[in-house]
Amino acid sequence: MTTVSRRKLLTRGAELIGVAAVGSAPLALATPTPGRRIPFGACVNEGAFARDVAYRDALTTYCQQVTPEGGLFWAGLRPARDRFDFEFADRVQNFAQANGMTMRGHALVWYAAMPDWTKQIGSAAEAEREMALHIERVVTRYRGKIKTWHVVNEPIGDPTGDVAPLRPSIWLRYLGEDYIEKAFRLAHQCDPDAELLLNEYDVESINAISTPRRQALLRLIHHLLSRGVPLHGVGLQGHIRGRDEIDGDGVRSFVAEVQSLGLSVHVTELDVIDDSLPAPIAARDAIVAARAYDFLNAIFAAARPSVIATWGITDRYTWMPMWYKRKDGQLNRPLPLDESYRPKPLWSVIDYFCQRAAS
Ligand code: XIL
Repeated sequence: MTTVSRRKLLTRGAELIGVAAVGSAPLALATPTPGRRIPFGACVNEGAFARDVAYRDALTTYCQQVTPEGGLFWAGLRPARDRFDFEFADRVQNFAQANGMTMRGHALVWYAAMPDWTKQIGSAAEAEREMALHIERVVTRYRGKIKTWHVVNEPIGDPTGDVAPLRPSIWLRYLGEDYIEKAFRLAHQCDPDAELLLNEYDVESINAISTPRRQALLRLIHHLLSRGVPLHGVGLQGHIRGRDEIDGDGVRSFVAEVQSLGLSVHVTELDVIDDSLPAPIAARDAIVAARAYDFLNAIFAAARPSVIATWGITDRYTWMPMWYKRKDGQLNRPLPLDESYRPKPLWSVIDYFCQRAAS
């Protein structure tokens, strides 16, 4: 049984960086509940998966669920308009099956990771045709194998003041806001048994953007449900901004509302952005773990998520330096295992919540 004390994490982090406290009010240690564990999942990096045996071992040691990092993006699947390349996604699927794991689908419709040829799409009819073809080919191929899909990824845009609009994309440009509804209906037609999710980030922190983004996401959820759209759950990515405190009340009431609407809640891409955290490793790891603790604790205050998944498994392979490289030249440390595959305090936090009941 793993135990983790947020107080200890915070004290250690604070001690090492010489501040009084990090995070919100300390909480007493809760005892993990025996019983069904929440599956832990991670995305799979293509190069590491192909070349690094230790990487594959880490996946089989820790994960009950995987998703190919970029293998189900349009850019990964559709190098040309008339060609689908399922090679990497299939390899991850076979690996999952061989090792008794499930695979989740990320993501059918997103504004980013679009192949160049999609710039030629020039009308609503063409956009709808391509979206329908894509969803039909991809969802049908993995019917019965991928049971949960991130149907629309990151629909909410950057807020202006306290209003967050939908994020610009070729889908919004040509199909208007109905693109979201269309995507869900198409996916449902192709696999009526699949669990269909909206997946979103930057909704959990105390800063200028999280609250309007969370409110916009909630409005979108209500709108879709009021129109009978087959939306079954919400993915909180959890790319946590390490410098900002977690908005515990905001997250808890959001999750409570989502749950009261009959939707499931998933933690889909957890990692902690550490570009502006202090350099000393023990302090940094403690703050990273404490932020994740606060985030998961707020979710669990309202509901037990269906999965806790991180965006990668080891600091050796992470997308983070693409966007959040540290200026001091040190490696980012956002994930549960360090670059030598040793479990970090973040892993203890995740392991603890995987066995914890909702409070
Ligand atoms: C990132 C991948 O990790 C990168 O390899 C890729 O180049 C860009 O996308 N939110 C998401 C993920 O939903 O798909 C993103 O993944 C990280 C942010």
